[in-house]
This record gives sequence, structure tokens and C-alpha cells, in this order.
Amino acid sequence: MAVKISVIGAGNVGATLAQRLAEEDLGDVVLLDVVEGVPQGKALDIQQSAAIVGFRGSITGTNSYRHTAGSDVVVITAGASRQPGMSRDDLLKGNARIINEVVANVVRFSPEAIIVMVTNPVDAMTYLALKLSRFPRHRVLGLSGVLDSARLASLIAAELKVPVAAVSALVLGEHGQNMVVLPRLSTVRGKPLTDILPPEAVDGLVARTVSGGLEIVRLLKAGSAFYAPSAAAARMVAAIIGDKQEVLPCAAYLDGEYGLRDTVIGVPVRLGGKGIEQIVELELAPGEQKALTASANAAGKLIEAIKPD
Ligand code: NAI
Ligand code: 2OP
Repeated sequence: MAVKISVIGAGNVGATLAQRLAEEDLGDVVLLDVVEGVPQGKALDIQQSAAIVGFRGSITGTNSYRHTAGSDVVVITAGASRQPGMSRDDLLKGNARIINEVVANVVRFSPEAIIVMVTNPVDAMTYLALKLSRFPRHRVLGLSGVLDSARLASLIAAELKVPVAAVSALVLGEHGQNMVVLPRLSTVRGKPLTDILPPEAVDGLVARTVSGGLEIVRLLKAGSAFYAPSAAAARMVAAIIGDKQEVLPCAAYLDGEYGLRDTVIGVPVRLGGKGIEQIVELELAPGEQKALTASANAAGKLIEAIKPD
């Protein structure tokens, strides 16, 4: 049977993601939104590009979860995005209400699915989805580090005038102001960034990575980034669908790993057909571990505010 991927929310991230998934021929794609006509129109538009681009799968736009039934992967992008002057955390309560409704439908129609959460604040929304769905923790994860690491990689490549393919960058922790950028574990042709650039230059790249999403919100003036986020989500879906066993930094529920319990933050995970196949525990320097713990505490405050009973 063909692989089925549903994308909930046909806004900027959801629709661009649906296009990427279709073009990568990862399976049949269903795009769902509450707004009538929008997912149908966008899906039709993407479907009509098949003759030009050459993909084989179908893409269906809908307002009904019936069409998502039996999905292998459900990516949740439904909810409000940041506007200028707003932090990701300002979205907390409104998006939590939306995630309640979406997850109930995912459980009802796709009880075996792997959930990839995109909606912000993503660490808290991933926690909420895990608890509401009662899925095992390996089947619920969130988009954070793949995007933040890609932003850092892009900045490093520009600063050192090297191809981005020569760069490996790593960002863990909360997807927010308390993300943990790891210059020591970010490398250019295998050499740590901290051995290449002076500390002040490294600090500049770290600061710009942390405010990477905000920089785009300020430029767009309406809404937030979606090209790199949709590429990051597509990469995670591809690792799952292709059973790639690829290690990527993702928001994951921790149960003792990194000394953290009953919380969700970004850590390296091995992604494969079952979802999170392993949480990879890196050896962090004391300062890095301290920053990760502080980051988890920040995410924990948001989680506390929306924890289901
Ligand atoms: P958008 O505003 O363009 O799209 C959101 C869509 O969700 C809209 O089409 C809206 O009609 C739909 N929606 C609202 N309530 C719904 C419901 N109950 N069921 C189904 N659909 C519903 O926003 P955009 O830019 O696509 O961002 C979506 C979310 O993803 C935001 O919360 C944003 O902050 C987050 N995000 C997270 C990233 C991450 O790294 N985790 C990166 C980029 C965005
Ligand atoms: C970003 O980092 C809004 O979380 C989104 O661009």
C-alpha cells in the first residue's frame, strides 16, 4: 500500500511542506485545513504541477479528517504563527486549543501514525500531543534542531565562504530564545568551529542563530519563516518514511536522558521507520550540559502552563 502522509494546516509551512513531500515522491499527501477551499485549491495547484515536475503520488486537499484515515505520518502545522512583536511563547494557549482538537482527530483516524509537530511553541506542543494521544514516545516528535542547525550552518558557510555542504552544525534544546547552540560540536570539514574562529565571531554567529526566526518575522512583517522550516520537516519525514536511521536533532520526550525527565526538548535522535529509534546521548561539556538543563527548565515552564490533567 502506498505511504500516506497528512499535513494538518495548509498555511505557509503546511502547503510548502505538502509541495516538498509530493515533489520528493515520498507518498500520497493529504493537506487539511479548517478554512474551506484553501487546502483543496492548494492541493489542486500542486497536483497540476505533477506533469511538469514528474512526481507520481496523489495530493488531496480537504476539510475532513476522513481523508487522512490510516496515515503513516501526520505533520501538524495548524495554528497561529508569530507576528512582529510576538514571541513563540505568546502563541501558547491559542495553539494548545487547536492541538487538542487536531490530536483527537489524529488518534481517531490514524491511530498508528507517527506525529511530527511543527506548531509553536513546539516543545510544549509536542509534549501536549504526546500526552493527549497516549502514543508511545517514539511516535511523537517535533521540529526544532534540524531548522536551527540549518540556520547556523548557513551562517557559518557565509562567514567562512565555504560550501554549506562542508559544514556540520548542531543546535539542541528548546526551540526559542533558550536554544543551545553548540559551536564546539559544529564543524567545518571536521574541524570544530571554536578552533577556526575567534570567540567574538563565534558569539556573533550564535546570537544570529538564536534570533534567526525573529530576523525573518521582522523582514516579512506578517507571519514567520516557512521555506527552511518546511525543508526541515520534509527531511524528518523522509528519514521516517525511508527508514534512514539518520541522526537529527529533534524535539523529543526525555525520560532520564541528559539527566532530564518528563519534558520535551531538542536532542539528537536516530530517526527511522518507527519514528524515534534511539535518543543519542552526546558527551556534553559541563557548560553545555548546564545550558541544556536551563533550556529544559525554560521549556518546562511552558509545558506546565498547558499540561493536560
Ligand atoms: P499560517 O498562519 O500560514 O498557517 C497556519 C494554518 O493553520 C492556517 O492555514 C490556518 O487556517 C490553519 N489552522 C488553524 N486552526 C486550525 C485547525 N484547528 N485545524 C486545521 N488547521 C488550522 O502559519 P505557518 O507559517 O504555516 O506556521 C504554522 C505554525 O508552525 C505556527 O505555529 C508557527 O509558529 C510554527 N512554526 C514552527 C516552526 C518550528 O521550527 N517548529 C518553524 C516555522 C513555523
Ligand atoms: C522559526 O524559527 C517561527 O519557529 C519559527 O522561524
